Amino acid sequence: MTYFKNKVAVITGSSRGIGKAIAIELANKGAHIVLNGRDKQRLDKTKNEIEALSTKVSAVCSDVSTIEGSNKLIDQAIKEFGCIDILVNNVGVSMRGHIADLNPEVYKMVFESNLLGTIYPSIPAIKYLRKTQGSIVFISSLAGIRGLPSFSAYSSSKMAIRAIAESLRIEEHKNNIHVGLIFVGITDIEHNKEVIAADGSKLILESRKNKKVSSPQYVAQKVLQNIRKRKFITVLTAIGKLNALLQPVLPMLVERLIIRNLKKFDEHSK
Ligand SMILES: NC(=O)c1ccc[n+]([C@@H]2O[C@H](COP(=O)([O-])OP(=O)(O)OC[C@H]3O[C@@H](n4cnc5c(N)ncnc54)[C@H](OP(=O)(O)O)[C@@H]3O)[C@@H](O)[C@H]2O)c1
Repeated sequence: MTYFKNKVAVITGSSRGIGKAIAIELANKGAHIVLNGRDKQRLDKTKNEIEALSTKVSAVCSDVSTIEGSNKLIDQAIKEFGCIDILVNNVGVSMRGHIADLNPEVYKMVFESNLLGTIYPSIPAIKYLRKTQGSIVFISSLAGIRGLPSFSAYSSSKMAIRAIAESLRIEEHKNNIHVGLIFVGITDIEHNKEVIAADGSKLILESRKNKKVSSPQYVAQKVLQNIRKRKFITVLTAIGKLNALLQPVLPMLVERLIIRNLKKFDEHSK
């Protein structure tokens, strides 16, 4: 229970959604939190909520898909707390649309957020994580296990994150940095979650209240378990575990199952 006490955790994209749930879970376990997001109002609101859990909280308003924004986040964490024990690379945006219909800019938008927004904060954080022999965690998706219809840009960005996590684990093995990779299933949304439409515009998703989805709290608990046990891969949900098992050995069966269940990949917007 004391594993996270006084540890310094930086969570990218933590003003709402899964990132916020991870921040709350860590704060409840006594960690000091560095929040991040681009919208200052939303970030300050979350900071107030987490401060009420009687933990030290800092909030850095910056865009981690830029080098400057990422450097600002890591620099401010060090300025305020002097060290970093945990970096959770949570920022990520999804998209919808078949490849033939996509504005090519969608790929740029998704890769800037999901890939660059992950690697840019990681690079300056590594030297601090070496000192604490800390953890760096990448939030992926079941869409990162195999390419899914309507999610090509999202799937490919999450697959690229796996390559980064694999390289980093080997590179930092001698420095005893823990690298974790979490494959998250479809998760409940309590807010106007935005994704990118085929034409590059923003799409607000409908509530998932009536669907069988994970709660952000459940995802957060699994992330903390991954960190505490210093595991590499954590795959969430039964369907995720089945997919991870079948995909390498029976990919054509997985493809057939997806084709048979194509309707399940449709999600409506508001
Ligand atoms: N929700 C799901 O069903 C699901 C399933 C599988 C995997 N995941 C993964 O889980 C992670 C979190 O997803 P989520 O659904 O919780 O997302 P979300 O609800 O859209 O929240 C994203 C958070 O990141 C911030 N953010 C976005 N872009 C940013 C940037 N460039 N720089 C700094 N902050 C940024 C947002 O605040 P601002 O907009 O104010 O910046 C917000 O706090 C993502 O990596 C996603 O791919 C989610």
